[in-house]
Amino acid sequence: MNHIVFTRESAVAIRNELKEVQCSDVFVLVDNNSRNYCLNSLNLGAVPVEHIITIAEGEHNKSLESVSYIWQVLSEQGARRNSVLVNVGGGVITDIGGFAASCFKRGIRCVNVPTTLLAQVDASVGGKTGINFNGLKNEIGTFSIPECVIIDNSFLSSLPQRQILSGFAEMLKHALLADEEHLAEVMQADLKKTEESSFLDLIRKSVAVKAAVVESDPREKGLRKALNFGHTIGHAIESMAIRKGLQIYHGDAVAYGMIAELFLSVRKLGFSGNHFECVKHFIRENYPVYHSVGAGEELYELMLHDKKNERNGVNFTLLRHFGEIEIDQYCTKEEIFEALEQLT
Ligand SMILES: NC(=O)c1ccc[n+]([C@@H]2O[C@H](COP(=O)([O-])OP(=O)(O)OC[C@H]3O[C@@H](n4cnc5c(N)ncnc54)[C@H](O)[C@@H]3O)[C@@H](O)[C@H]2O)c1
Ligand SMILES: [Zn+2]
Repeated sequence: MNHIVFTRESAVAIRNELKEVQCSDVFVLVDNNSRNYCLNSLNLGAVPVEHIITIAEGEHNKSLESVSYIWQVLSEQGARRNSVLVNVGGGVITDIGGFAASCFKRGIRCVNVPTTLLAQVDASVGGKTGINFNGLKNEIGTFSIPECVIIDNSFLSSLPQRQILSGFAEMLKHALLADEEHLAEVMQADLKKTEESSFLDLIRKSVAVKAAVVESDPREKGLRKALNFGHTIGHAIESMAIRKGLQIYHGDAVAYGMIAELFLSVRKLGFSGNHFECVKHFIRENYPVYHSVGAGEELYELMLHDKKNERNGVNFTLLRHFGEIEIDQYCTKEEIFEALEQLT
């Protein structure tokens, strides 16, 4: 599993890490925003400017063209098997940088410095890398563990609140997969102060939940499906929104997905109705109002297209109680429609 450092002094942590890995030279991957807001405080002055690889920000740049550009710079600048790539940015940068590094010269090492909440609690840990291809998300990728992940929440001070909220949905998911105490702590957090030192401990706990799941199933053969909680319906909402040209954040879609999938948990596994209401209320208070992105029928079709859904309906990860996860729970169309009604 990843070597993860939680710190408020990322400049010191990166210096120590680079000393430890004993590399011939260092390359840094950033996007426009992480270059503007985060690079200076890392104090990587000794890295030659030609070794700083910048790509434009945004999901649509998580592409083969960007990877090709990264490989080209690495190659032209003489990167060797012993070089290290430091990925400084959100999940787009850690996914694409991890992928580029895992293939270049059959694999060079990389260090992740995630700078969004989503990347800190989710994307940068767990060893999945990837790019979008042929119109499909994460179609090409590798399992590749970074040498180290350096998590410093002071980077979050420049992150727009909408992005904070998106990453926070994954923290909520991790808490539901953990226990009631952790959930209570997460729901009491002040989302306007995620860059403060007190929030780092909550990030640490959230990452520990993901790390434990990944460790039990590093190559996603079974148990790692726990991390899909909220995502079956969440992904359908996200895909539908994209299809209709509506802007919706991944975390918002997952938050709505969690309401619906908790409802299915109540119906099928006896999850407590009171606890369901409490989480639903919290999501409704904190996330934008759910505007129906399409008819239930269309959303259902999208869920069915997922290759994991074979014969008995749609495959879900559901909860019997906080922390009691049941994978491979098949739900019928009627059950799913009833759950979608909880969103409006
Ligand atoms: N590998 C995995 O296991 C895994 C898990 C979850 C998500 N992901 C991937 O992560 C990606 C989403 O990550 P994301 O939400 O971090 O998106 P992102 O990388 O696009 O970052 C969101 C925005 O914030 C900007 N930004 C980054 N750091 C900033 C800072 N400190 N201040 C101001 N702006 C900053 C970025 O430039 C971008 O515009 C998706 O591609 C998703 O597929 C991967
Ligand atoms: Zn997610």
